[in-house]
Amino acid sequence: MKKVISYSSGKGGVGKTSLVANMGVLWSQQGKKVLVVDGDWSLGKMALTLGVKPQWAVNDVLEGRITLREAVQGVSSHLSLLASPSGIMGFEELSEIHRNQLYYEIDALQEDYDLVLIDHSSGVHWGVIQFAAAAHQHVIVTTAEPTSYMDAYAIMKILSQRFKIRNFQLMVTMSQDLSETQKIIERFIDITQSHLDVKVLEVGHFLFEPKLAESLRQQKPFVSLYTDIAFTQQLSRVCKLLERIPCEKGSGLKFFYSENINPIAAR
Ligand SMILES: Nc1ncnc2c1ncn2[C@@H]1O[C@H](COP(=O)(O)OP(=O)(O)OP(=O)(O)O)[C@@H](O)[C@H]1O
Ligand SMILES: [Mg+2]
Repeated sequence: MKKVISYSSGKGGVGKTSLVANMGVLWSQQGKKVLVVDGDWSLGKMALTLGVKPQWAVNDVLEGRITLREAVQGVSSHLSLLASPSGIMGFEELSEIHRNQLYYEIDALQEDYDLVLIDHSSGVHWGVIQFAAAAHQHVIVTTAEPTSYMDAYAIMKILSQRFKIRNFQLMVTMSQDLSETQKIIERFIDITQSHLDVKVLEVGHFLFEPKLAESLRQQKPFVSLYTDIAFTQQLSRVCKLLERIPCEKGSGLKFFYSENINPIAAR
């Protein structure tokens, strides 16, 4: 496994799953072996967004029915998915044991993939924060709404203060007006960098794209349906940019698993 990238937002419904699914498709079309992990353990929608019906989900792994390797399903030749269940009680907040089991088992797949993309649920509970902290790269998704960027700030604050993560890549979505949004986001980045010991790099800025809803209705990935549209081209540019950004030093699932087994106790 060359790189684990975590996508989080704090606020729900900002477009994380749409971005992760479609970046996974684009990277796999370039020949990279990609595993997408649906980290929304109890309301998983990644399978729907990718247009597949998974036979297994992460709860089957955690309840011992199958191994994680068996639960991973092929979406296309280079793209695989570890799906999450939707509407099964008991997996909203994974236990410490379950989280560690997943770190261990995902790490064991390291030879099989070039990229592992983890799409988190909303919120800032430990299940999100610990998985986000364990990645090599930290993408934060926000809109230009104060309720969204306040939550983006909260996630970066926790990750930087608790886990010493210094570099974040910001993706801005659902923009109604590019230049207005740009001003808001530049100010947000300035304030964040002056209050927290972090570097925030804006890597992509996306307009509100009504055809995303159509791709969900058709249950096909957006970038496969609309290959020449601005959203797809912009997403391809973000993929290239993220590839060039090096991993955080001393990061990754294995490092995290061994060093931070109980970060609350280690504070
Ligand atoms: N740039 C965009 N323009 C228009 N609609 C969008 C955009 N991004 C996402 N959407 C739509 O917003 C809805 C929520 O998107 P998505 O599920 O990707 O968000 P999320 O952040 O993963 O949500 P959750 O917090 O529930 O996991 C979907 O209906 C999706 O089609
Ligand atoms: Mg989602």
